[in-house]
Amino acid sequence: MSHAAPRPPIPPIRTVRPEQTSDLMARTGLSEQMLHDLVHGFYDKVRRDAMLGPIFAERITDWGPHLAKMVDFWSSVALMTGRYHGAPVPAHAGLPVEWAHFERWLALFRQTARELCPPEGAAHLIARAERIARSLHMATRDARGGVPAL
Ligand code: HEM
Repeated sequence: MSHAAPRPPIPPIRTVRPEQTSDLMARTGLSEQMLHDLVHGFYDKVRRDAMLGPIFAERITDWGPHLAKMVDFWSSVALMTGRYHGAPVPAHAGLPVEWAHFERWLALFRQTARELCPPEGAAHLIARAERIARSLHMATRDARGGVPAL
């Protein structure tokens, strides 16, 4: 008779790291459905926003693939699912944005996360969004030659 160690439960989410993802889901209360609703709710706000809406409208015509990519992105960032394989820096480097645009982006993101997620989950997502926004902002400035590369 074999005495295999009990397997960790398989989380109800597509992930390449089931153990870490299960642990993060338990700690944050986040789920696939919540990340789906977060991404869709957030971009609904972004598209209606006077400052950010036009920037997206000029560049994204087919929202279905963008939203699916962003659910994968947030599942990778927040739950370590390993599902996002893109490159955010070049996607933002040429955008006509200042820090004020990132502030607006963050304000809408915080609002959506707090509306849809439990407090631990919202805090987890917001901390990561703030960190990534700062590094994307630096990338947009570097691309314009405003800050010398190290
Ligand atoms: C000023 C704020 C921002 C604006 C105007 C903006 C705009 C855009 C646009 C237009 C695209 C589509 C690019 C394309 O397909 O050509 C995009 C992609 C993306 N954005 Fe942003 N973004 C902003 C901030 C952020 C932040 C703070 C994050 C992360 C926390 C983020 C994550 C992403 C990701 C992951 C993609 C997909 C890149 C890829 O193609 O793999 N963005 N964004």
